[in-house]
Amino acid sequence: MSGAIFILSGAGLSAESGLRTFRAADGLWEDHRVEDVATPEAFERDPELVQRFYNERRRQAAEAQPNAAHKALARLQKNHSAPVYLVTQNVDDLLERGGAKQVIHMHGAVRDALCATCSHRWTAPREMQVTDPCPSCGQQHTRPDIVWFGEIPYHMDVIQDAIEDSDLFVSIGTSGTVYPAAGFGQMARHLGIKTLELNLDASNAPFDEQRQGKASEIVPAWVDEILG
Ligand code: OAD
Repeated sequence: MSGAIFILSGAGLSAESGLRTFRAADGLWEDHRVEDVATPEAFERDPELVQRFYNERRRQAAEAQPNAAHKALARLQKNHSAPVYLVTQNVDDLLERGGAKQVIHMHGAVRDALCATCSHRWTAPREMQVTDPCPSCGQQHTRPDIVWFGEIPYHMDVIQDAIEDSDLFVSIGTSGTVYPAAGFGQMARHLGIKTLELNLDASNAPFDEQRQGKASEIVPAWVDEILG
């Protein structure tokens, strides 16, 4: 037993910091259809709309503050006697600003920019423009460093190894509807790893244990249990 813990988080972790989740009742995400703003095709079709959309997400993420759940996970990573792998689908940096030292952003980070021509990455300005040149190759084909639908999430090899190294899999604030992240819990169960869900609404996926409530309440309580 390594004692390592694998944590997969989603939009519910940042909801109480004021960042909206994706699957609200109206099926829209910040008043847009996902295919209009979160696909490579959307970016080719209307790069200005996509840049405007992510400029707004960047602004909101920068203004948001980490909540008690982010801070509790940072405390767990710092004080647990074995590795705590923090894998997030969130593109905000609230885990880092809550004190976490190592966060795996499988869907990218809204604070970063990516050159669609040469793959160079850098810290995005607060407002990205379609005419921004890449600081490395000079091409005006720069985009937010976000994994869009139809693209392959980042760090999949590292994530696979981390799941295999862990004794406990914990899913926090994610609906478990977007693959491949939605399959991680199943993968853990196949490997005989105990699974736990901490979420406002229990998902339909099979977990060994499910606890319902707000992340800011149930995550710190669970971390206290683990750290004793
Ligand atoms: P969703 O919006 O699908 O799910 C958010 C989950 O958080 C739901 O299960 C809610 O019940 C739960 N939730 C809401 N408020 C909560 C709170 N205060 N405390 C605890 N849980 C709460 O978001 P994700 O599962 O993160 O991908 O979505 C996955 C991916 O779909 C995103 O990373 C994004 C999106 O399209 C990309 O952009 C590639």
